[in-house]
Amino acid sequence: MKHLIDIESLTTDEINQICAKALDFEKGIRKTNHQNANVINMFFENSTRTRLSFEMAENKINCNKFNFSIDTSSINKGEDIFDTINNLSAIGMNAIVMRHWDNDLIKELSKKRYFQEISFVNAGSGTSAHPTQALLDYYTIKKHFLDVSKKTITIVGDIAHSRVAKSDIALLKKFNMRIKCLAPEYFAGEKIEGVEYYTDLKEAFSDTDIIMALRIQKERIQEHIDFDDYIKNYQITKENLPYAAFLMHPGPINKNIELREDVLETQNARTILNQAKNGVYIRMAVLDTVLISQGL
Ligand code: NCD
Repeated sequence: MKHLIDIESLTTDEINQICAKALDFEKGIRKTNHQNANVINMFFENSTRTRLSFEMAENKINCNKFNFSIDTSSINKGEDIFDTINNLSAIGMNAIVMRHWDNDLIKELSKKRYFQEISFVNAGSGTSAHPTQALLDYYTIKKHFLDVSKKTITIVGDIAHSRVAKSDIALLKKFNMRIKCLAPEYFAGEKIEGVEYYTDLKEAFSDTDIIMALRIQKERIQEHIDFDDYIKNYQITKENLPYAAFLMHPGPINKNIELREDVLETQNARTILNQAKNGVYIRMAVLDTVLISQGL
């Protein structure tokens, strides 16, 4: 695995190998030293969890870590991304962790022949993909449920604008999980084959092992959305949350919109911080794998 661009390009074996490696990192069984590798983080969109867990992972695998600051870079003088990356490669960068608003840019960059020396790792691309989030979500689910093929997940909220939902669905489908999406028409997005769509919360929650709430991505929404209507019909509360359901959320949470604040005090919601924690081990495993592919 030289790059990690999307889930579609991974086999179930590769996904399980990444998870197994992450587990070894978590247990402290596996140690690694990438002292000859130079990894740079380029975040063109805001981030807390993803950026800092990549940084934590980079420190833990002992590579040399660099942070690209868009605001103080020559991108602000008009340099384009291709020239920027050519120069980063010339300086000696071996891997780029990139979050960008464009859906396809990272795929395009990874295919350029003159960037052969560089691995690209997608830390979120527009509304299209967020593969490390899907891997950490799967890792979190698998640690709890072991055989995921018999389980049902309900993804709730702004599916249309969510790269997390797209990558999670792509991954969980590969492992034959039953996937439901619960959203009003205006958030359902393009229907994905093999996914069951619901507009009624009670119906969707009547039979589910996992509920994954999503943030309403205001920054990506142009049309007018009736938030009161959304909250009334789709907000997750202590009352409508099934007793035994595992509650997940990629973060950041908009409290009292997609879920009522008191839900966060329930046992069900403990998973959410575990997702953040597991993100470090998954990102260690992903970086270790791409750096090994380069002989680093
Ligand atoms: C998500 C993202 O950036 O796509 N967050 C994350 O990476 N943990 C989800 C979001 O922004 O709502």
